[in-house]
Amino acid sequence: MTRKHEPRVAEGVDVTRPSIARIYDYLLFGKDNFAADRAAADKLMQSRLDPRRLALANRAFLRRAVRFLARVYVDHDPIVVAHNDALLATGDGVVTVRADVREPDAVLDSDALNGCLDLGRPVAVLLLSVLHFISCDEDAPGIVATFRERMAPGSYLVISIGTSDGADSEMLAEATTTYAGARMPFTLRSRGQILDLFKGFDLVEPGLVSLPEWRPDFNTDRTPLNGPTVGAVARLAA
Ligand SMILES: C[S@@+](CC[C@H](N)C(=O)[O-])C[C@H]1O[C@@H](n2cnc3c(N)ncnc32)[C@H](O)[C@@H]1O
Repeated sequence: MTRKHEPRVAEGVDVTRPSIARIYDYLLFGKDNFAADRAAADKLMQSRLDPRRLALANRAFLRRAVRFLARVYVDHDPIVVAHNDALLATGDGVVTVRADVREPDAVLDSDALNGCLDLGRPVAVLLLSVLHFISCDEDAPGIVATFRERMAPGSYLVISIGTSDGADSEMLAEATTTYAGARMPFTLRSRGQILDLFKGFDLVEPGLVSLPEWRPDFNTDRTPLNGPTVGAVARLAA
């Protein structure tokens, strides 16, 4: 899809290369995306994975899960950080930190985060639709464990993530190839591997379930997802 007017481009941002964040924005009917993002997303949408439905289901899960939670957002994409600053950082306890989730200590030690959150008290860490962009070599369990070690008892962990369990292998191969074509890693994990990420936490009811099944409300579209994506909220025992 082409557009007459593209959004303004921040210095140093290569918009000829698709970005996960801007593809996600396009799937959510946002305006902060460029031709390369839309082309990659359109290609993804040709698969039976139904990525737009997945993005909307993830956003709805996020809303339900954070209604009583988050005050800090971390992302490594500069455009995401700039937009969050413009939209969310209203000076009343909301900050955006540009950091890489693969370096959890850097996230947790950042001045911006510590100026907003007291890690000596319970916090919520939300890793939503991000860990499937972390390859097996990059040790997702180790990343989550580092967060856990720095979280006070009574803190919460929220994860949403694509799973290989119950997946149509042909459809997933197609999605993986498309992401790889856009130079984005996409790693699906089994239910067991995902449950391991919650080691040390107690899952809140209903546990690890398909996103629309997590405490649905009157707004929730409960049609099964084509691309199996699960989520859970868990508490670090006091
Ligand atoms: C599908 S979007 C999900 C955004 C948001 N978490 C949500 O659920 O609405 C994935 C986001 O993860 C970010 N991302 C991917 N890899 C990352 C990394 N290693 N560190 C920090 N952010 C990352 C992307 O830039 C993108 O904004």
